[in-house]
Amino acid sequence: MKAKILVTGGTGYIGSHTVVELQNSDYEVVIVDNLSNSNAEVVDGIEKITGIRPAFQQVDCRDKEALAGVFNRYPGIKGIIHFAASKAVGESVQQPLLYYRNNIVSLLNLLEAMPEYQVEGLVFSSSCTVYGQPDRLPVDETAPILPATSPYGNTKQVDEEIIRDAIHAGAPYKSIILRYFNPIGAHPTAEIGELPNGVPQNLIPFLTQTAAGIRKELSVFGNDYHTPDGSCIRDYINVVDLAKAHVVAVERMLNNPSNARLEYFNLGTGRGLSVLELIHTFEETTGVKVPHKIVGRREGDIEQIWADPRYANEVLGWTAVETLEDTLQSAWKWQLKLGE
Ligand code: NAD
Ligand code: WQD
Repeated sequence: MKAKILVTGGTGYIGSHTVVELQNSDYEVVIVDNLSNSNAEVVDGIEKITGIRPAFQQVDCRDKEALAGVFNRYPGIKGIIHFAASKAVGESVQQPLLYYRNNIVSLLNLLEAMPEYQVEGLVFSSSCTVYGQPDRLPVDETAPILPATSPYGNTKQVDEEIIRDAIHAGAPYKSIILRYFNPIGAHPTAEIGELPNGVPQNLIPFLTQTAAGIRKELSVFGNDYHTPDGSCIRDYINVVDLAKAHVVAVERMLNNPSNARLEYFNLGTGRGLSVLELIHTFEETTGVKVPHKIVGRREGDIEQIWADPRYANEVLGWTAVETLEDTLQSAWKWQLKLGE
């Protein structure tokens, strides 16, 4: 058995897939989640896939004492992967203080606990949203960080700065900051996936719900952008590929003898795909039609962004390998499972 890893937000979408990959790689996992955007049955799904039931504690990362209780109950935690956060961009505009408290206080509590419990490193879930609309594409890790366009995006920027400043000041731990592009899909077993919460704001859950007849039609937000077909372009990355990147990041953080105390990696495929291309590929792959119509632009949308993942490919030794077709199939299989 390798090191013991605390996974905050471990019953969430990306967290649950990462717990599976950590356990498949022989890490011991302790999940902390307050179940604000997931449920405890996810632990069953993880057990079904891996044959191992991870430790699970229903704890809120904003609660410092409860977190201390977790470190005491599971001594010897070597690393943390910190997923726990609120993540809905629109909601963050309506309830900014909730987002600042959750996303910032949770991180502060973990960073303050780490020296006391000799935790050696923290992997942090950041987002390509920190780049805004980059001047140059594909975007690499040296691109400037632009002013955030939502409180959610700002929490990711501030969190990155908090980690940077703590390490600069000599904190006795390392950190790897992972900037995700657009995670999509589900585990191929359909035992875990993204849980719907009200009307989906993100493209793929809305698309699969439309394909399943739960929604009448998908609105394509704009076809007058300066892109080949006029719709926005993103870098959609399979969630299992993304999960695997966390395992190599933890490996590097805990075992790499280099002096790098803080590193940043873009996690994407390197391929930009338009909204219309995505819809058409889904239809061709699954044979299911997605009723859709073009509507006006969505406020705040970036026109186009995709990753230059070469630094992650070379330094982490990680590359996204899943095909778009398999990824969309997994999203569809998960949607059908939800409807059972
Ligand atoms: P998710 O909502 O599915 O998972 C987050 C989990 O954290 C949930 O299970 C939720 O219950 C839990 N949580 C929230 N606040 C908590 C708290 N105070 N204490 C304990 N648990 C708490 O979201 P996700 O898509 O899996 O995202 C995981 C991380 O990745 C987040 O930090 C998110 O900002 C970041 N991220 C997500 C995306 C994306 O498109 N999904 C893109 C870039 C970055
Ligand atoms: C993708 C594309 C939409 C819905 C957001 C956050 C970002 C990150 C991921 C966490 C865009 C279009 C969407 C629909 C559509 N999260 N679209 N019809 O906006 O790239 O990123 O989630 O860090 O911070 O901003 O993802 O899935 O919402 O949209 O046409 O009903 O699909 O315009 O071009 P986005 P998304």
